[in-house]
Amino acid sequence: MTGAVGQIGSELTLALRERFGNENVVAAGHRTAPQPALRDSGPFETVDVTVREDVDRVLETYAIDTVYHLAAILSARGEENPGLAWRVNIDGLVNVLEASRERNVNQVCIPSSIAVFGPETPSDCAPQETILLPTTMYGVTKVAGELLGEYYVRRYGLDVRGLRYPGIISSETPPGGGTTDYAVDIFYQAIQTGRYTCFVGPETRLPMMYMPDCIKATIDLMEADRAQLVHHSNFNVGSMCFSAAELAEEIRKHIPDFVCEYEPDFRQAIADSWPCNVDDRAAREEWGWEPHYDLASMTADMIEQLSARLTRTDAAA
Ligand code: SER
Repeated sequence: MTGAVGQIGSELTLALRERFGNENVVAAGHRTAPQPALRDSGPFETVDVTVREDVDRVLETYAIDTVYHLAAILSARGEENPGLAWRVNIDGLVNVLEASRERNVNQVCIPSSIAVFGPETPSDCAPQETILLPTTMYGVTKVAGELLGEYYVRRYGLDVRGLRYPGIISSETPPGGGTTDYAVDIFYQAIQTGRYTCFVGPETRLPMMYMPDCIKATIDLMEADRAQLVHHSNFNVGSMCFSAAELAEEIRKHIPDFVCEYEPDFRQAIADSWPCNVDDRAAREEWGWEPHYDLASMTADMIEQLSARLTRTDAAA
């Protein structure tokens, strides 16, 4: 698992360790120290995915048969440093695909994103097959990543699979550097201070998914019968879709004095370039995708999970 210290990687590693045994899932991170639960439950390696020798060393040492390649620079950070986004998201991906091909790895999971879409994509329900003209470097690297994945399937027979993740909401590891991060930050602030200043406007509506569904989608796709898959590295997966104002309103059902203000910054333009929902019929038909959480159940669970760890620190508490 590259990117194992990140928002999705940390929880996916623990889920896979539970499924396949702690010693059988190697967590690989780069700069950030691993969380105790991750560090103490199984092997951890420091890997810079842009360094081919790092990737080779871990595949060799542990005789890896499946790679989950979660390491990536997300959309907002990618706009601040497009060169870094290219190096990590493309050079890193090529290293992982080449090393996997040469070492006969069975399966590679390469996440894609709703960031592959752009202003020309139909916004209310982005089709599986549609115009992919992203305006961010992150989106450019994700479109190229999907195409590389398909290329390795066709040219080398490597079993590459991937989902176009929407914004992922979770209560464990916070996200970093993404445009959809507000949908997580808002919960921490609502619980700790009762106030949040949102960096996109109230009408901004994006596809989102709760972490348990994200883990389920990833494992279900990886375990799907290969013969049933028409697509490989680019599945749309829908779950929920709400505006920032609707999220704030749902949180107010649990925290009635919660105040949300809006000060859009450069991330507004990124959000505006993405669709608000996706058509995920291919995922439903080819491998039985079905989400469990909606806005109400996700919000209730987020508040329950975070309230057990966080306390209110403002004067009103
Ligand atoms: N969560 C990602 C981002 O905001 C989208 O895939 O960059």
